[in-house]
Amino acid sequence: MKSSTKQGVKILSTGSAVPHMSLNNNQISDIVETSDDWISTRTGIKERRLLTGEQKSIIDLAIVASRNALDKISMNPSEIDLILLATSTPNDLFGSASQIQYKIGAINAVAFDLTAACSGFVLGLVTASQFIQTGSYNNILVIGADVLSKWVDWSDRGTCILFGDAAGAVILQSCPYVDNSILNFQFNTDGTYASHLSIPYKESHQPHVLLNIYQGSFHPIYMNGREVYKFAVSQVPLSIVKCLNALNMSTDDINWLLLHQANERILNAVADKLSIDNHKIIANLSKYGNTSAASIPLALDEALEEKKISDNDIVVIAGFGAGLTWGTIVVRWKELQLA
Ligand code: ACO
Repeated sequence: MKSSTKQGVKILSTGSAVPHMSLNNNQISDIVETSDDWISTRTGIKERRLLTGEQKSIIDLAIVASRNALDKISMNPSEIDLILLATSTPNDLFGSASQIQYKIGAINAVAFDLTAACSGFVLGLVTASQFIQTGSYNNILVIGADVLSKWVDWSDRGTCILFGDAAGAVILQSCPYVDNSILNFQFNTDGTYASHLSIPYKESHQPHVLLNIYQGSFHPIYMNGREVYKFAVSQVPLSIVKCLNALNMSTDDINWLLLHQANERILNAVADKLSIDNHKIIANLSKYGNTSAASIPLALDEALEEKKISDNDIVVIAGFGAGLTWGTIVVRWKELQLA
Protein backbone atom coordinates (compact mmCIF):
# COMPACT_ATOMS: atom_id res chain seq x y z
CA MET A 1 0.00 0.00 0.00
CA LYS A 2 1.32 3.46 -0.92
CA SER A 3 2.47 5.92 1.72
CA SER A 4 0.02 8.55 0.37
CA THR A 5 -2.71 6.75 2.37
CA LYS A 6 -4.66 9.22 4.49
CA GLN A 7 -7.53 7.19 5.90
CA GLY A 8 -7.96 3.66 7.15
CA VAL A 9 -10.72 1.41 5.85
CA LYS A 10 -12.87 -0.90 7.93
CA ILE A 11 -15.43 -3.46 6.87
CA LEU A 12 -18.47 -2.30 8.77
CA SER A 13 -21.08 -4.86 7.75
CA THR A 14 -21.83 -7.72 5.39
CA GLY A 15 -24.97 -9.17 3.85
CA SER A 16 -25.94 -11.81 1.33
CA ALA A 17 -28.81 -13.29 -0.62
CA VAL A 18 -29.43 -16.53 -2.50
CA PRO A 19 -32.48 -17.52 -4.55
CA HIS A 20 -35.03 -19.89 -3.01
CA MET A 21 -34.80 -22.59 -5.66
CA SER A 22 -32.18 -25.26 -5.03
CA LEU A 23 -31.00 -27.75 -7.65
CA ASN A 24 -29.05 -30.69 -6.28
CA ASN A 25 -26.68 -32.99 -8.17
CA ASN A 26 -29.27 -35.74 -8.55
CA GLN A 27 -31.71 -33.28 -10.10
CA ILE A 28 -29.03 -32.01 -12.50
CA SER A 29 -28.44 -35.60 -13.63
CA ASP A 30 -32.00 -35.46 -15.05
CA ILE A 31 -30.87 -32.61 -17.30
CA VAL A 32 -27.40 -33.74 -18.45
CA GLU A 33 -25.53 -37.04 -18.28
CA THR A 34 -23.74 -36.77 -14.95
CA SER A 35 -23.99 -38.02 -11.37
CA ASP A 36 -23.81 -36.82 -7.79
CA ASP A 37 -20.66 -38.89 -7.38
CA TRP A 38 -18.88 -37.30 -10.38
CA ILE A 39 -19.78 -33.75 -9.40
CA SER A 40 -19.06 -34.19 -5.67
CA THR A 41 -15.73 -35.88 -6.23
CA ARG A 42 -14.46 -33.42 -8.83
CA THR A 43 -15.83 -30.19 -7.42
CA GLY A 44 -17.22 -30.62 -3.88
CA ILE A 45 -20.51 -29.09 -5.05
CA LYS A 46 -23.71 -30.79 -3.84
CA GLU A 47 -26.33 -28.19 -4.80
CA ARG A 48 -26.70 -24.69 -6.20
CA ARG A 49 -29.37 -21.95 -6.06
CA LEU A 50 -31.02 -20.67 -9.24
CA LEU A 51 -32.93 -17.46 -9.85
CA THR A 52 -36.50 -18.30 -10.82
CA GLY A 53 -40.04 -17.11 -10.28
CA GLU A 54 -40.57 -13.83 -8.43
CA GLN A 55 -36.88 -12.98 -8.04
CA LYS A 56 -36.38 -12.07 -11.67
CA SER A 57 -33.00 -10.43 -11.95
CA ILE A 58 -29.67 -9.78 -10.36
CA ILE A 59 -31.11 -6.52 -9.05
CA ASP A 60 -33.55 -8.40 -6.78
CA LEU A 61 -30.75 -10.44 -5.24
CA ALA A 62 -28.40 -7.48 -4.90
CA ILE A 63 -31.08 -5.43 -3.15
CA VAL A 64 -31.72 -8.14 -0.54
CA ALA A 65 -27.98 -8.52 0.14
CA SER A 66 -27.51 -4.74 0.38
CA ARG A 67 -30.48 -4.21 2.72
CA ASN A 68 -29.24 -7.09 4.82
CA ALA A 69 -25.86 -5.35 5.25
CA LEU A 70 -27.47 -1.96 5.94
CA ASP A 71 -29.97 -3.36 8.46
CA LYS A 72 -27.26 -5.07 10.53
CA ILE A 73 -25.77 -1.68 11.40
CA SER A 74 -29.02 0.31 11.17
CA MET A 75 -27.49 2.50 8.46
CA ASN A 76 -29.75 4.76 6.45
CA PRO A 77 -29.14 4.17 2.69
CA SER A 78 -28.79 7.94 2.23
CA GLU A 79 -25.47 7.73 4.12
CA ILE A 80 -23.91 5.68 1.29
CA ASP A 81 -21.58 7.74 -0.94
CA LEU A 82 -20.77 5.12 -3.56
CA ILE A 83 -22.23 1.81 -4.74
CA LEU A 84 -19.95 -0.47 -6.66
CA LEU A 85 -21.55 -3.51 -8.27
CA ALA A 86 -19.12 -6.24 -9.31
CA THR A 87 -20.92 -8.39 -11.84
CA SER A 88 -20.55 -10.03 -15.23
CA THR A 89 -24.27 -10.64 -15.55
CA PRO A 90 -26.02 -7.27 -15.36
CA ASN A 91 -29.57 -7.07 -16.60
CA ASP A 92 -28.51 -4.05 -18.66
CA LEU A 93 -25.21 -3.82 -20.54
CA PHE A 94 -25.08 -0.13 -19.59
CA GLY A 95 -24.90 -1.28 -15.98
CA SER A 96 -27.20 -2.32 -13.14
CA ALA A 97 -25.73 -0.42 -10.17
CA SER A 98 -27.91 2.64 -10.73
CA GLN A 99 -31.07 0.52 -10.44
CA ILE A 100 -29.86 -0.75 -7.07
CA GLN A 101 -29.10 2.83 -5.99
CA TYR A 102 -32.66 3.85 -6.87
CA LYS A 103 -34.39 0.83 -5.36
CA ILE A 104 -32.62 0.89 -1.98
CA GLY A 105 -33.01 4.68 -1.74
CA ALA A 106 -29.31 5.51 -1.67
CA ILE A 107 -30.13 8.98 -2.94
CA ASN A 108 -26.69 10.44 -2.30
CA ALA A 109 -24.67 7.63 -3.84
CA VAL A 110 -22.80 7.48 -7.11
CA ALA A 111 -23.20 3.98 -8.56
CA PHE A 112 -21.40 2.04 -11.23
CA ASP A 113 -20.64 -1.52 -12.36
CA LEU A 114 -17.26 -3.22 -12.41
CA THR A 115 -16.71 -6.27 -14.63
CA ALA A 116 -13.99 -8.75 -13.73
CA ALA A 117 -15.82 -12.09 -13.52
CA CYS A 118 -14.93 -14.11 -10.43
CA SER A 119 -12.25 -11.57 -9.43
CA GLY A 120 -14.80 -8.77 -9.55
CA PHE A 121 -15.47 -8.61 -5.84
CA VAL A 122 -11.82 -8.41 -4.73
CA LEU A 123 -11.11 -5.76 -7.38
CA GLY A 124 -14.25 -3.92 -6.27
CA LEU A 125 -13.24 -4.01 -2.62
CA VAL A 126 -9.83 -2.53 -3.36
CA THR A 127 -11.24 0.04 -5.82
CA ALA A 128 -13.67 1.16 -3.14
CA SER A 129 -10.97 1.27 -0.48
CA GLN A 130 -8.94 3.65 -2.67
CA PHE A 131 -11.81 6.17 -2.66
CA ILE A 132 -11.87 5.98 1.14
CA GLN A 133 -8.11 6.10 1.66
CA THR A 134 -7.78 9.21 -0.47
CA GLY A 135 -10.52 10.89 1.54
CA SER A 136 -13.06 11.11 -1.31
CA TYR A 137 -15.84 9.04 0.29
CA ASN A 138 -16.75 7.79 3.77
CA ASN A 139 -19.28 4.99 3.24
CA ILE A 140 -19.21 2.60 0.30
CA LEU A 141 -21.43 -0.35 -0.53
CA VAL A 142 -19.58 -3.01 -2.54
CA ILE A 143 -21.77 -5.72 -4.02
CA GLY A 144 -20.65 -8.92 -5.74
CA ALA A 145 -23.54 -10.50 -7.61
CA ASP A 146 -23.92 -12.89 -10.50
CA VAL A 147 -26.66 -14.95 -12.11
CA LEU A 148 -24.63 -17.23 -14.32
CA SER A 149 -27.56 -19.65 -14.60
CA LYS A 150 -28.81 -17.26 -17.28
CA TRP A 151 -25.58 -17.64 -19.25
CA VAL A 152 -24.85 -21.32 -18.90
CA ASP A 153 -25.49 -23.78 -21.71
CA TRP A 154 -27.75 -26.21 -19.84
CA SER A 155 -26.75 -28.97 -22.27
CA ASP A 156 -23.01 -28.59 -21.50
CA ARG A 157 -22.28 -30.87 -18.54
CA GLY A 158 -18.73 -29.52 -18.29
CA THR A 159 -19.99 -26.11 -17.13
CA CYS A 160 -23.66 -26.23 -16.08
CA ILE A 161 -22.89 -28.32 -12.99
CA LEU A 162 -20.56 -25.67 -11.59
CA PHE A 163 -22.45 -22.44 -11.27
CA GLY A 164 -25.10 -20.95 -9.01
CA ASP A 165 -26.70 -17.53 -8.46
CA ALA A 166 -26.14 -15.27 -5.45
CA ALA A 167 -25.30 -11.79 -4.19
CA GLY A 168 -23.09 -10.62 -1.35
CA ALA A 169 -22.48 -7.13 -0.05
CA VAL A 170 -20.10 -5.31 2.28
CA ILE A 171 -20.18 -1.79 3.63
CA LEU A 172 -16.81 -0.10 3.95
CA GLN A 173 -16.23 2.97 6.08
CA SER A 174 -13.32 5.30 6.69
CA CYS A 175 -11.57 5.08 10.05
CA PRO A 176 -8.34 6.28 11.68
CA TYR A 177 -5.36 4.69 9.94
CA VAL A 178 -4.38 2.75 13.08
CA ASP A 179 -7.64 0.79 12.71
CA ASN A 180 -7.10 0.07 9.00
CA SER A 181 -8.37 -3.39 8.04
CA ILE A 182 -7.20 -3.74 4.44
CA LEU A 183 -3.49 -4.26 4.97
CA ASN A 184 -2.35 -4.97 1.42
CA PHE A 185 -3.41 -6.25 -1.99
CA GLN A 186 -1.72 -7.87 -4.98
CA PHE A 187 -3.46 -8.12 -8.37
CA ASN A 188 -2.57 -9.66 -11.75
CA THR A 189 -4.00 -10.02 -15.24
CA ASP A 190 -2.87 -12.17 -18.14
CA GLY A 191 -5.02 -11.64 -21.21
CA THR A 192 -3.03 -14.26 -23.14
CA TYR A 193 -5.38 -16.86 -21.75
CA ALA A 194 -8.64 -14.93 -21.96
CA SER A 195 -10.15 -17.55 -24.25
CA HIS A 196 -9.98 -20.25 -21.53
CA LEU A 197 -13.00 -18.75 -19.81
CA SER A 198 -15.42 -16.44 -21.57
CA ILE A 199 -18.95 -15.44 -22.51
CA PRO A 200 -17.97 -14.47 -26.07
CA TYR A 201 -19.69 -11.95 -28.29
CA LYS A 202 -20.16 -13.43 -31.74
CA GLU A 203 -21.10 -11.41 -34.79
CA SER A 204 -23.61 -12.61 -37.33
CA HIS A 205 -22.32 -13.86 -40.65
CA GLN A 206 -24.32 -11.34 -42.63
CA PRO A 207 -23.78 -7.58 -42.31
CA HIS A 208 -26.59 -5.03 -42.33
CA VAL A 209 -27.51 -4.66 -46.01
CA LEU A 210 -27.12 -0.88 -46.13
CA LEU A 211 -24.53 -0.11 -43.45
CA ASN A 212 -22.21 -3.10 -43.74
CA ILE A 213 -22.26 -3.34 -39.91
CA TYR A 214 -22.06 -6.76 -38.33
CA GLN A 215 -24.23 -7.26 -35.26
CA GLY A 216 -24.39 -10.25 -33.00
CA SER A 217 -25.13 -11.61 -29.57
CA PHE A 218 -23.45 -13.22 -26.61
CA HIS A 219 -22.88 -16.96 -26.49
CA PRO A 220 -23.11 -19.11 -23.34
CA ILE A 221 -20.13 -19.65 -21.03
CA TYR A 222 -17.16 -21.39 -22.57
CA MET A 223 -14.58 -22.89 -20.21
CA ASN A 224 -11.44 -24.96 -20.61
CA GLY A 225 -11.75 -26.56 -17.18
CA ARG A 226 -8.32 -28.17 -17.08
CA GLU A 227 -6.49 -24.98 -18.00
CA VAL A 228 -8.51 -22.94 -15.51
CA TYR A 229 -7.71 -25.49 -12.81
CA LYS A 230 -3.96 -25.41 -13.58
CA PHE A 231 -3.96 -21.61 -13.67
CA ALA A 232 -5.71 -21.25 -10.31
CA VAL A 233 -3.60 -23.81 -8.48
CA SER A 234 -0.31 -22.42 -9.80
CA GLN A 235 -0.95 -18.65 -9.70
CA VAL A 236 -3.11 -18.05 -6.62
CA PRO A 237 -0.51 -19.31 -4.09
CA LEU A 238 2.14 -17.07 -5.69
CA SER A 239 -0.11 -14.03 -5.35
CA ILE A 240 -0.87 -14.83 -1.71
CA VAL A 241 2.82 -15.23 -0.85
CA LYS A 242 3.75 -11.96 -2.62
CA CYS A 243 1.02 -10.10 -0.78
CA LEU A 244 2.06 -11.51 2.61
CA ASN A 245 5.79 -10.98 1.98
CA ALA A 246 5.22 -7.27 1.33
CA LEU A 247 3.79 -7.09 4.85
CA ASN A 248 6.63 -9.15 6.34
CA MET A 249 4.05 -11.81 7.10
CA SER A 250 4.06 -15.53 6.33
CA THR A 251 1.37 -18.13 5.75
CA ASP A 252 1.70 -19.03 9.46
CA ASP A 253 0.04 -15.68 10.23
CA ILE A 254 -3.13 -16.63 8.37
CA ASN A 255 -6.18 -17.40 10.52
CA TRP A 256 -8.61 -17.80 7.63
CA LEU A 257 -8.15 -18.49 3.92
CA LEU A 258 -11.10 -17.20 1.92
CA LEU A 259 -10.72 -18.10 -1.74
CA HIS A 260 -13.16 -17.62 -4.59
CA GLN A 261 -15.48 -20.60 -4.18
CA ALA A 262 -14.83 -22.23 -7.57
CA ASN A 263 -14.07 -25.79 -6.69
CA GLU A 264 -13.17 -27.63 -3.48
CA ARG A 265 -10.18 -29.27 -5.14
CA ILE A 266 -8.77 -25.84 -6.02
CA LEU A 267 -9.30 -24.62 -2.44
CA ASN A 268 -7.55 -27.65 -0.98
CA ALA A 269 -4.69 -27.62 -3.51
CA VAL A 270 -3.96 -23.93 -2.85
CA ALA A 271 -4.00 -24.51 0.92
CA ASP A 272 -1.74 -27.57 0.55
CA LYS A 273 0.77 -25.64 -1.55
CA LEU A 274 0.95 -22.99 1.16
CA SER A 275 1.01 -25.56 4.00
CA ILE A 276 -2.17 -24.08 5.45
CA ASP A 277 -4.32 -26.40 7.57
CA ASN A 278 -7.57 -27.32 5.86
CA HIS A 279 -9.56 -26.22 8.92
CA LYS A 280 -8.53 -22.63 8.12
CA ILE A 281 -10.29 -22.75 4.74
CA ILE A 282 -13.64 -20.97 4.58
CA ALA A 283 -15.83 -22.99 2.23
CA ASN A 284 -19.53 -23.06 1.49
CA LEU A 285 -19.52 -24.06 -2.17
CA SER A 286 -21.09 -27.44 -1.47
CA LYS A 287 -24.36 -25.54 -0.93
CA TYR A 288 -24.11 -22.84 -3.58
CA GLY A 289 -21.65 -23.90 -6.31
CA ASN A 290 -19.53 -21.26 -7.98
CA THR A 291 -21.40 -17.97 -7.66
CA SER A 292 -18.70 -15.94 -9.43
CA ALA A 293 -18.42 -12.37 -8.07
CA ALA A 294 -20.81 -13.23 -5.22
CA SER A 295 -18.84 -16.16 -3.87
CA ILE A 296 -16.41 -14.32 -1.57
CA PRO A 297 -18.87 -11.91 0.10
CA LEU A 298 -21.41 -14.73 0.44
CA ALA A 299 -18.86 -16.97 2.19
CA LEU A 300 -17.60 -14.05 4.31
CA ASP A 301 -21.11 -13.18 5.44
CA GLU A 302 -21.83 -16.79 6.33
CA ALA A 303 -18.53 -17.19 8.24
CA LEU A 304 -19.34 -14.06 10.25
CA GLU A 305 -22.87 -15.27 10.97
CA GLU A 306 -21.31 -18.50 12.25
CA LYS A 307 -18.93 -16.39 14.39
CA LYS A 308 -15.89 -18.09 12.89
CA ILE A 309 -13.84 -14.92 12.47
CA SER A 310 -12.61 -13.10 15.60
CA ASP A 311 -11.22 -9.65 16.28
CA ASN A 312 -7.71 -9.17 14.81
CA ASP A 313 -7.82 -12.41 12.81
CA ILE A 314 -5.83 -12.27 9.58
CA VAL A 315 -8.12 -13.20 6.69
CA VAL A 316 -6.45 -13.78 3.34
CA ILE A 317 -8.92 -13.30 0.52
CA ALA A 318 -8.05 -14.36 -3.04
CA GLY A 319 -10.10 -14.13 -6.21
CA PHE A 320 -9.39 -15.65 -9.62
CA GLY A 321 -11.25 -16.06 -12.86
CA ALA A 322 -11.88 -14.94 -16.39
CA GLY A 323 -9.52 -12.41 -17.89
CA LEU A 324 -7.52 -14.19 -16.67
CA THR A 325 -7.37 -12.02 -13.57
CA TRP A 326 -6.43 -12.97 -10.04
CA GLY A 327 -5.34 -11.38 -6.81
CA THR A 328 -5.13 -11.28 -3.04
CA ILE A 329 -6.20 -8.98 -0.23
CA VAL A 330 -4.88 -9.32 3.31
CA VAL A 331 -7.43 -8.19 5.89
CA ARG A 332 -7.01 -7.75 9.62
CA TRP A 333 -10.53 -8.34 10.87
CA LYS A 334 -11.87 -5.67 13.21
CA GLU A 335 -15.01 -6.50 15.10
CA LEU A 336 -17.61 -3.83 14.99
CA GLN A 337 -18.04 -2.02 18.33
CA LEU A 338 -21.70 -1.02 18.24
CA ALA A 339 -22.53 1.84 20.59
N1 ACO B 1 -20.38 -35.47 -15.44
C1 ACO B 1 -19.78 -36.59 -15.89
N2 ACO B 1 -18.72 -36.58 -16.71
C2 ACO B 1 -18.25 -35.38 -17.11
C3 ACO B 1 -18.83 -34.17 -16.67
C4 ACO B 1 -19.93 -34.25 -15.81
N3 ACO B 1 -20.55 -33.15 -15.32
N4 ACO B 1 -18.13 -33.15 -17.20
C5 ACO B 1 -17.16 -33.69 -17.94
N5 ACO B 1 -17.23 -35.03 -17.89
C6 ACO B 1 -16.39 -36.02 -18.54
C7 ACO B 1 -15.74 -35.48 -19.79
O1 ACO B 1 -16.59 -35.61 -20.90
C8 ACO B 1 -14.52 -36.35 -19.88
O2 ACO B 1 -14.91 -37.59 -20.42
P1 ACO B 1 -13.92 -38.37 -21.44
O3 ACO B 1 -12.69 -38.65 -20.65
O4 ACO B 1 -14.71 -39.55 -21.82
O5 ACO B 1 -13.68 -37.39 -22.57
C9 ACO B 1 -14.13 -36.61 -18.43
O6 ACO B 1 -15.31 -36.34 -17.66
C10 ACO B 1 -13.03 -35.72 -17.96
O7 ACO B 1 -13.34 -34.39 -18.35
P2 ACO B 1 -12.46 -33.18 -17.93
O8 ACO B 1 -13.08 -31.90 -18.40
O9 ACO B 1 -11.05 -33.44 -18.33
O10 ACO B 1 -12.63 -33.28 -16.35
P3 ACO B 1 -11.71 -32.70 -15.24
O11 ACO B 1 -11.11 -33.78 -14.46
O12 ACO B 1 -10.81 -31.62 -15.75
O13 ACO B 1 -12.80 -32.01 -14.32
C11 ACO B 1 -13.65 -29.82 -13.90
C12 ACO B 1 -13.63 -30.99 -14.86
C13 ACO B 1 -14.32 -30.23 -12.61
C14 ACO B 1 -14.46 -28.69 -14.53
C15 ACO B 1 -12.19 -29.38 -13.65
O14 ACO B 1 -11.52 -29.17 -14.85
C16 ACO B 1 -12.11 -28.13 -12.83
O15 ACO B 1 -12.41 -28.13 -11.67
N6 ACO B 1 -11.67 -27.03 -13.46
C17 ACO B 1 -11.71 -25.74 -12.85
C18 ACO B 1 -12.98 -25.13 -13.27
C19 ACO B 1 -13.35 -23.97 -12.47
O16 ACO B 1 -13.19 -23.96 -11.27
N7 ACO B 1 -13.88 -22.99 -13.17
C20 ACO B 1 -14.33 -21.82 -12.64
C21 ACO B 1 -13.20 -21.00 -12.05
S1 ACO B 1 -13.10 -19.42 -12.63
C22 ACO B 1 -14.55 -18.84 -12.38
O17 ACO B 1 -15.09 -19.00 -11.33
C23 ACO B 1 -15.26 -18.12 -13.48
